[in-house]
Amino acid sequence: MRLIMLEKIQQPIADDLSRYKGVFRSALQANNPLLSAALNHLTRRLGKMMRPTLLLLCAREGGAVTDEALHAAAGLEMLHTASLVHDDVVDESNMRRGQRSVNALFDNKAAVLVGDFITSKALSEVAMTHSLEAVDRMAWLGQTLADGELLQLNNTQSTIFSEQDYYEVISKKTAALFSTCAFLGARLGGAGPERAASLERFGHIVGLCFQLRDDIFDFDENIDAGKPKGNDMHEGKLTLPVIYALNTTTDARYYRLAIRVRTREASKLEVQELVDFTIAGGGLEYAESEMQRLRTEALDLLTGLRDGAVAEALGMYLDYVVKREK
Ligand code: IPE
Ligand code: IPE
Ligand code: MG
Ligand code: MG
Repeated sequence: MRLIMLEKIQQPIADDLSRYKGVFRSALQANNPLLSAALNHLTRRLGKMMRPTLLLLCAREGGAVTDEALHAAAGLEMLHTASLVHDDVVDESNMRRGQRSVNALFDNKAAVLVGDFITSKALSEVAMTHSLEAVDRMAWLGQTLADGELLQLNNTQSTIFSEQDYYEVISKKTAALFSTCAFLGARLGGAGPERAASLERFGHIVGLCFQLRDDIFDFDENIDAGKPKGNDMHEGKLTLPVIYALNTTTDARYYRLAIRVRTREASKLEVQELVDFTIAGGGLEYAESEMQRLRTEALDLLTGLRDGAVAEALGMYLDYVVKREK
């Protein structure tokens, strides 16, 4: 399938997205020299803007892209940005969006504080919606993201390899952000709770697919996602492909190897052995098939939409997430 261009997906909200960028960039400024340097570095590359795109499309479906929706989009993308700054500290990663991560360019101390600053800016931005529902959702989301990252950290101590645990982690650390964008976009655009809940479910499934694809990327040397490869296993993070391969083998040697990788006792050669085992065991194909299953479920949720242009864009959005190459 031809790769769908993000510009095409964003076409129904192109003007709104330009206004959004203005709101986002002007809010992330400071006088403090270190903070200002870090914010300038971060806002040089805005990323794919997947979450604001989803939020604004859902706002249009809800009725209209209001100023409140723009503030929510900026606030949620700030929370995403802050979570990436902190995530790169947690994952000891030195690259993000094809440039040095904040922890690599400055240090961990600065990255923690910059992340805190952006999180608080995100709250100010969402407060500008004057919607208690939006503030409440945002507060829940911040807790859920941290919960997901902590669960994942805790799983590195576990001797169990369960798909259920994996899905719980990605539901919290990734899908919650997409579902909140869809829900709040719809609500702030004018949709009632029921229509918003259906888009929320769509956002959740899209978010699961997004992380599944991201976890597949980690195995693929040919993909340039602007961040390091093979970092997951290196960090003791075992994702769905390897969990599947482990649960379908009878060779206990790989189970013991996986535990060593999780606890970060494994050598580089051993990590490579587990990667090869995952690929040979059909782990990547399984993760692809999971995305296809989820895609079908998500597509079904688009049938009742009112705005034809949004329905088409969200269909392409879903396919982009499933097939994307960055
Ligand atoms: C990265 O998200 C974090 C994950 C959930 C895998 P994105 O790939 O959307 O990051 P940017 O914003 O486009 O850089
Ligand atoms: C997703 O986790 C990022 C957050 C939820 C903060 P990952 O650790 O898998 O994301 P990347 O690969 O660093 O973007
Ligand atoms: Mg991480
Ligand atoms: Mg990471």
